[in-house]
Amino acid sequence: MTQPLIQLDHHATTPCDPRVVEVMAPYWTELAANASSISHRPGLQAKEAVEQARQTIANCLGCTPREIVFTSGATEANNLAIKGVMVDAPASAGLIVNAAEHKAVLDPAQELKRRGRAVHVLPVDAAARVQPQQIQANLTDETRLVSVMLANNEVGSLHDVASIAELCHDKGTPLHTDATQAIGRVPVNLNELPVDMLSCSSHKIYGPPGIGLLFVRRSPRTPRLTPLFHGGGHEWGMRSGTLPLPLIVGFAKAMELAVSHQADDAARLSQQRDRLWNELVRKIPGVVRNTPETDVLPNNLNITIPNIDGDVLFARLKASRLCVSSGSACTSANPEPSHVLRAMGLTDQQARASIRFGLGRYTTDEELREAVEIVVRAWGANGRLS
Ligand SMILES: Cc1ncc(COP(=O)(O)O)c(C=O)c1O
Repeated sequence: MTQPLIQLDHHATTPCDPRVVEVMAPYWTELAANASSISHRPGLQAKEAVEQARQTIANCLGCTPREIVFTSGATEANNLAIKGVMVDAPASAGLIVNAAEHKAVLDPAQELKRRGRAVHVLPVDAAARVQPQQIQANLTDETRLVSVMLANNEVGSLHDVASIAELCHDKGTPLHTDATQAIGRVPVNLNELPVDMLSCSSHKIYGPPGIGLLFVRRSPRTPRLTPLFHGGGHEWGMRSGTLPLPLIVGFAKAMELAVSHQADDAARLSQQRDRLWNELVRKIPGVVRNTPETDVLPNNLNITIPNIDGDVLFARLKASRLCVSSGSACTSANPEPSHVLRAMGLTDQQARASIRFGLGRYTTDEELREAVEIVVRAWGANGRLS
């Protein structure tokens, strides 16, 4: 009998929680309807289910339902935030991002640069954080938007987004944050976090893939967004397209579970992560921790294995039952070493020999013990390279 996989790639995606699958089930079949078809009862019921889900998510995030725009995921939410502010702005308009952002921020920024906008990609430190002073130094009267991720998807570092928002607001500039990895792992309350836009995604919080949102604060500072698509004018004209009812209902349930269990999950996951790290240090002399010790996601551990070629390491790991990543899954089709690790100062060789562990809701201590054994074997028994 083949042994079950050890799934430690939860930054890439998470399995749908059975409680989420259960609430979604009737919306594929007997309750299926178009929430815009308000000329009949099923359509009206669908509209009510969407608005109830929107209210649930708003309660979880500390915002109003009117501030939530459903999208297909965080990639689209980031594109809507960034292109939505920048495409119709004058050529002199400035955008500030940093080198450790997800490609779903960096690629739209590059596209805007190609179209002549003044895009600044700021460097990051050894923990993949951009220094607030760097942002301050680059803010001008022409800056239309700053985007800084809340939690890094490769090394787990958190940004002090509240302080960064303050310095942006001193200049009258709105701040967008990509909170895709942060929701459900650290507290996020938009009543207290003064960002102007926030992106997140359901499949990172045990909800269905294909649904996410952009929070757009209703305030005079928030610029009008140019939509990415034009169609039926759904989502207040910001995102046309028939609303995916089962996915929205599932997203709301996933959000409710993620937020209500956040504190307990974080306590357990950070203990498991620390034990995993202690075991790896004990068994692999010279192993380097890329995940910072503080202000960090509870479920992330990114390490560099010494004295091994990354291709050899991952060829061995792929043949095992351990599922881990060497970088962002969204860029894994690209053989380039992780842009985040390189921006932190790692060499290409070090980046290629780095492993990202992403612990999850169902991760057991036993799985972590086995994961250590598998990594040690892949590295070379007793420290010998085989
Ligand atoms: C930080 C971050 N932003 C954006 C995304 C893209 O999310 P989605 O798959 O919902 O488009 C990811 C997914 O890996 C992510 O980790």
